[in-house]
Amino acid sequence: METIAVLDSGGQYAHLIARKVRELGVYAEIVPVGIPIVELERYSGLILSGGPSSVFDEQSPKPEPGLFEIGKPMLGICYGHQLIAQGLGGLVERGQTHEFGSATLHIQSTAGLFDGLPLHNRVWMSHGDQVVRLPLGFKILGETDNCQIAAMGDVERGIYGLQFHPEVIHTPQGAEILGNFLRNACHCSMDWHPRDRIASIQASISEQVQGRKVLFFLSGGVDSTVAYALTVKALDAASVEAVYVDTGFMRHGETAEIEEAFSSLGLGRLNVVDASEQFFNSLQGIMDPERKRMIIGQAFVNVQDRILENGHFEGDEWMLGQGTIYPDTIESGGTQSAAVIKTHHNRVDSIQALMDAGLVLEPLTEFYKDEVREIGIGLGLPDRLLNRHPFPGPGLAIRCLCSDNDQQADQHEGIVSFARRSGYKAFLLPLRSVGVQGDSRSYAKVTVLHGGEFNHGQVLTLATELTNAFRSTNRIVLSLEPEELEMSEWAIKRSSLTRERIGLLQAADSQVTDFVHESGLYGEIWQCPVVLLPWSRTGGETIVIRPVTSVDGMTAAVAELPVDGLKVLTARLKSITGIDAVFYDISHKPPSTIEWE
Ligand code: XMP
Repeated sequence: METIAVLDSGGQYAHLIARKVRELGVYAEIVPVGIPIVELERYSGLILSGGPSSVFDEQSPKPEPGLFEIGKPMLGICYGHQLIAQGLGGLVERGQTHEFGSATLHIQSTAGLFDGLPLHNRVWMSHGDQVVRLPLGFKILGETDNCQIAAMGDVERGIYGLQFHPEVIHTPQGAEILGNFLRNACHCSMDWHPRDRIASIQASISEQVQGRKVLFFLSGGVDSTVAYALTVKALDAASVEAVYVDTGFMRHGETAEIEEAFSSLGLGRLNVVDASEQFFNSLQGIMDPERKRMIIGQAFVNVQDRILENGHFEGDEWMLGQGTIYPDTIESGGTQSAAVIKTHHNRVDSIQALMDAGLVLEPLTEFYKDEVREIGIGLGLPDRLLNRHPFPGPGLAIRCLCSDNDQQADQHEGIVSFARRSGYKAFLLPLRSVGVQGDSRSYAKVTVLHGGEFNHGQVLTLATELTNAFRSTNRIVLSLEPEELEMSEWAIKRSSLTRERIGLLQAADSQVTDFVHESGLYGEIWQCPVVLLPWSRTGGETIVIRPVTSVDGMTAAVAELPVDGLKVLTARLKSITGIDAVFYDISHKPPSTIEWE
C-alpha cells in the first residue's frame, strides 16, 4: 500500500497533515522525526511536520543523519521546512518576534507544488525563526510580506519546504498544495479509502479474538459504537457485550436516547450502569481542571475495574474492546515527540496491563474520526448515530467551570483601549481557559467584549487581533445583549461541581441543542459546547455557547450563528432560573481550544 510518513516534531500539526493526506486518498502514518533511516525505505514520500521547538534549541527533535540524502520526495512544513534548509546547507535565522495568523503568499513559480493555484493565496503562518538562505539547487517558489522564503523547492529532487501551514483550514488552498506534492513529487495513485479496509479489519478482529468474548464500554459516541458494530459483525452478537457507564455528566435524556438507538439496531442489549453517585462523590470540592480530568479518568477505571473483576476477566476467555482512534494513541504519548495534550482514560494502568497480556481489542487505532464515520456508513449504521456531535468522555463536568474563591473582573489597559477602537468595552474574567498558541498549550484569562454593535465580521477580526496582540488572553467572548455590563455589579463566586450546577447546565444545553436542531444548523456545525461559568450578578451563573465548525476537531472556526437566532436563544436561556448572562465564544482554534478546560 502506498504510504506517506509524516515525521512528527511535536505539537498537533502532524495529525492534521496525516489526516489531510488520507483525505486526498493516500494512506499516511505518523512516525517520530528521529526514526532510523532504514525504516523509511517503505514510504512513497516524507512530510516533516511543524513543531513547538526552534532548530536552534539543543533539545529540539532532529532527524537521523542521512535523512536528506535518502532520495525520497520530501516536504517540510514550518519547523520541517527549516530542518530541510539547515540539513541541505541553507541558513535559518532566529526570529525576534513570532508571526501568527493570515498572510498572503505571492507565488513565484507554479512548477510542482503550486500547480493550478492562483498567484496570490491566503496562508496561515505560525513561526518565529525563518529560512534566510536557500540550500544549493533550491529556488524560492513563493514569498509573503514578512517572509521572503515562504516556499522553496528543488523540483528535480522533489524536495520542498513551506514556512506556512498548508494543513490548517486557514490556508484555503492547502489541500491542493498537498495534493500536488503527492501527485507530482510522490507519484501516488490517490485511491485509498477507509471503507475499503472493513473486510481486513474484521479478519483481524477474528484473528485476535480467537473464539474469546469481548466486553465493550460504550459511550454512545461514534468511535466506540463503530468499534462495537465492527466486532459484532465480525463475530456475532452473543460473543460481544456492551456496558454503558452513566457518569451523571451526560446531557439531558442522553442515556435513554442511546439505549433506544442500540435496541432498535439489533446490535445486542446495552447494559446501563448508573455510577453517578461515585463520580460526584469523587469530585467533591475539586476545582482544578486537570485534577478534575484525572479524577474522572480514574473514576471510569474504577467502575470498569469493578465490572471487569465481576467474573468477566478470569482466565483469558474475555477481551476488552475499545474505540480508541489514531489521535488518542498519539495524544497519550504514543510517539516520541507529541506532547500529552489530554489524558485519555483508555491508556491507564489497569488497561495497560490487559494490553500487555494481549487482552485489549482496538480495531480503530489506525483511523481518524471522519474515517471512522466512513467505516460506520460502510457497516450500514444510521446517520443519527454516526453524525452525532462529538461529546467528550468527561462530559459536562469539563464544561462546568469552578472557582476556589470569589473574584472581581480585571481591567487590562491594553486590551481595553484596543477593543475601544472597534467600539467595544472589554474586561478580563478572572477565569482561565485552555488554548493552543504556537503549538503548545496555553492557560490564560478570558476577555469579555460588551456594549457594542454585533457584527460577525467585525467581532471575529477583533477577537483574532486581540489574541495575537496580548498573550494574557487566549479566548474572547461577546456579551449578546446590547447594553454595557456594569463590572462592579458582577463577580466570580466560589463554586464547585455539584448536581445542582450540572442540572442547570443540562437545562441550558438542552435549550441550545433544541435551538440548533430547530434552526437546521445541526449538520452544519461540528459541535456546540455549552459552558457554565460562575460569573454572577444576582446569585446566578453565566452560560457560554461555543458553536464551531471543523473537520476533525484539531482546528476549528467559530460557527457564525444568525444574529436574530442568537438573540432568541439568549432570551430563552435567560428565562431559565439561575442564568444571569449569555456569552457567545468568538475564538477560533487556534488560539482557543474547543472545550474550555
Ligand atoms: P479541544 O478542547 O482539545 O477538543 O479543542 C477537541 C475535541 O476533543 C473533544 N475533547 C475530548 N474528548 N475526552 C474526550 O473524549 C476529553 O477529555 C476531551 N477533551 C476534548 C472536544 O469535545 C472536541 O471535539
